Amino acid sequence: MRISKVVEQIPPSGIRVFFDLVLGMKDVISLGVGEPDFVTPWNIREAAIYSLEEGYTSYTSNKGLPELREAISRHLKNRYGLDYDPEEEILITVGVSEAFDLAMRAVITRADKILIPEPYYVSYGPIATLCGGKPVYIKTRVENGFKIMPKDISGHCDGKTKGIVLNYPNNPTGASYSRKELSRIAKAVLKHNLIMISDEIYSDLTYDFKHTPFAALPRMKERTIYLNGFSKAYAMTGWRIGYACGPRDVIAAMTKIHQYTMLCASIISQEAALKNGERSTEEMKREYKRRRSFVVWRLNEMGLECHKPEGAFYAFPSIKKTGLSSMEFSKELLKKEKVAVVPGTAFGPSGEGYLRISYASSMDKLKEAFIRIERFLKEEV
Ligand SMILES: Cc1ncc(COP(=O)(O)O)c(C=O)c1O
Repeated sequence: MRISKVVEQIPPSGIRVFFDLVLGMKDVISLGVGEPDFVTPWNIREAAIYSLEEGYTSYTSNKGLPELREAISRHLKNRYGLDYDPEEEILITVGVSEAFDLAMRAVITRADKILIPEPYYVSYGPIATLCGGKPVYIKTRVENGFKIMPKDISGHCDGKTKGIVLNYPNNPTGASYSRKELSRIAKAVLKHNLIMISDEIYSDLTYDFKHTPFAALPRMKERTIYLNGFSKAYAMTGWRIGYACGPRDVIAAMTKIHQYTMLCASIISQEAALKNGERSTEEMKREYKRRRSFVVWRLNEMGLECHKPEGAFYAFPSIKKTGLSSMEFSKELLKKEKVAVVPGTAFGPSGEGYLRISYASSMDKLKEAFIRIERFLKEEV
């Protein structure tokens, strides 16, 4: 009776449920968590130390430090030719997590429908529900590289559909979209008058082609809320720093909510994020790319079919051949060989028959983990 019905109805994160099993086990190799195995580059950490020494310990403007908003604006202009006014079109948030929550709260009026391609990042559906919206899941298929097709968007729209969430490169499948593929989606977005909430947190970890922000497509900037952050590319998950860019009215609405809930992101993290970490990002990206080749090769070699992820640091192999469910496979693998992976079902029912394997782990650990997985397949399946 005490707890809100809406909160009761949303499930706990499938990733966390599984990782509670891992807690307390010894010698486990975890390929489960979605965070870089690198420490934040030194020049960024040094900037935080310096800011503390200087006594920067106050609130900042609600929107975030003007210098940081200006730096983000310059970065988006230089890299993608995107124009965002740092004063009115950029908001600094507590990670993409907060930015996503604000975007949902800002656009959803009761019972509005939000399209979410599946498999999905675990937060999307629950946050849409918490904001009074109705998540509508659209299955993607391995035959299409786990990418959403424009006809699927049309097939799921009705008069109550307000927006669509796109995450690319994708967690958990690693799928990403070329400019041409995005243009086709843009047509559907326009046709159904949708707002695009584009979570591009892995944009800097795109391996085979140049990343195109959705907002950079013709006529899309005015209907896109572009979300990005520092957690993945700069190995800054613990700093909790991200940002949203979008049309003035949407950013003003998001800022209003942010004022009442967060006030502002941590000044120390904002000062640190001002430091340019791009060189380190390039080095980390090269290493992830090397690991991607190894992981995809090993999985296919041992008979677990795996498409090549185009970005992020996840492989999403099929285990259908084994006859085990995703949960059975993951639990048994953990019990017998002490390797932790995430069952595909943590990302929605269409993840059944798949696993998410994170290669944000050292090459030595990956090598050992795959020896164990191979043994598990030979002896237990
Ligand atoms: C797709 C996606 N979006 C958002 C987040 C959360 O990012 P942040 O650390 O910026 O809150 C994650 C973290 O795993 C993610 O995978």
